[in-house]
Amino acid sequence: MLGPVLLAAARSEHIRRLVAGMPLTRPVVDRFVAGERLDESLAAVRSLTDRGLLVTLDHLGEDVTDRTEALRARDAYLALAEVLRQEALGDRVEMSVKLSAFGQALPGGEDIALRNALPVVEAAAQAGTTVTLDMEDHTTVDSTLAILGELRARFPATGAVLQSYLYRTEDDCRSLAGEGSRVRLVKGAYREPASVAFQDKRDVDLAFVRCLKILMAGQGYPMIGSHDPRLVAITEELARQTGRKPGSYEFQMLYGIREAEQRRLAAAGHRMRVYVPYGTDWYGYFMRRLAERPANLAFFLRSLAGR
Ligand code: FDA
Repeated sequence: MLGPVLLAAARSEHIRRLVAGMPLTRPVVDRFVAGERLDESLAAVRSLTDRGLLVTLDHLGEDVTDRTEALRARDAYLALAEVLRQEALGDRVEMSVKLSAFGQALPGGEDIALRNALPVVEAAAQAGTTVTLDMEDHTTVDSTLAILGELRARFPATGAVLQSYLYRTEDDCRSLAGEGSRVRLVKGAYREPASVAFQDKRDVDLAFVRCLKILMAGQGYPMIGSHDPRLVAITEELARQTGRKPGSYEFQMLYGIREAEQRRLAAAGHRMRVYVPYGTDWYGYFMRRLAERPANLAFFLRSLAGR
C-alpha cells in the first residue's frame, strides 16, 4: 500500500528536502499548484472565473513551528483578502485556511490560531467573501470546531470541513446541519488509525453518503468536496429528493483534477468551486495528492526519469 507510505513521507522533513531539491519535481507540482506567487495564482483564478467556475484560494502552509511563521501566514491571507477586495472578486472567490498554519499546534495554539484567524475572517467579510477552515488530522478536529464556533459567533458564514473517514463525523454533520452553516464534506486525506477512522475505502464512501444525506436534508449550505463520479451523481439525486435548488449547495474539486467534469457541472448550472492552492510551501499538499492516486506517483516518477 503506497498511500500510507506517501502520507508518512508527507510529514518527513528529510524527504521534503529531498523531493523539493529534485530539479524535475516542479512541472509535476505545477499540475496541482497554481503558482508560487499570488499574482501567478490570480491568472489561474481569472481563467477559472471567466469560465463560470467559483474558486477557493489556499495560501499553502501548515504545521508552523513558531509564532513568527504563524503571523506570516496570517499576513499572507490579509494580503490576499485585500486583493480580493480591490479586484472585486469576493462574489466568486473565497479563502481556505489551515489552522496549523496559524499556530494551532503550538503551546496555547487554539488561542493563537483563533487570534490569527479573526482578522482574516474579518478582512474576508470586508471583501464580500468568506473563509472555510480546512480540516487536518483527527487530533485537531475538536480544536478546529471550537475555533469555528468562536468565529461563527461574529461571522456566521465561516465554513468548516468534515471528513467522512472519521467515525465521529456523522454526529458532527448533525451538529452543523443548521441554518447558515457552511460545511464542505470530503472523504479525508490524512493517515488515520483504525481507532478513529474507517480504513476501508468502501466504508469511507458509505459514510460519505450517510453524511451527505444529513447535510442535504439540513438547513445549511453543503459543499461537496469530491471528484468521485458516484458521489456527484448521488448528490444530484439527493438534491432532487430534498427539493434543493442548484444555488443552495455547491460542488468543489481540486485544481488540476477532473477539469472536464468541473466545466461540465458548471455548464449544467451547478455552483462549482475549484480549490486553488498557491505558495512555496507545497510539499505536504503535493504528497497528499500523490497518495490519493497511484497513477500520480507513476507520472511523477516518469518525469524524474526524464521520459
Ligand atoms: P477518490 O479518492 O475516490 O477519487 C475519485 C476519483 O477522483 C478518482 O478515481 C480520480 O479519477 C479522481 N482523483 C481523486 N484524487 C485524485 C488525485 N489526487 N489526482 C488525480 N485524480 C484524482 N481533505 C482533508 O482531509 N481536509 C480538507 O480540508 C480537504 N479539503 C478538500 C477540499 C476540496 C475542494 C476537495 C475536493 C478535497 C479536499 N480534501 C480535504 C481531500 C479529500 O479528503 C480527498 O482526499 C480527495 O478529495 C480525494 O477523494 P475523492 O472524494 O475525490 O475520491
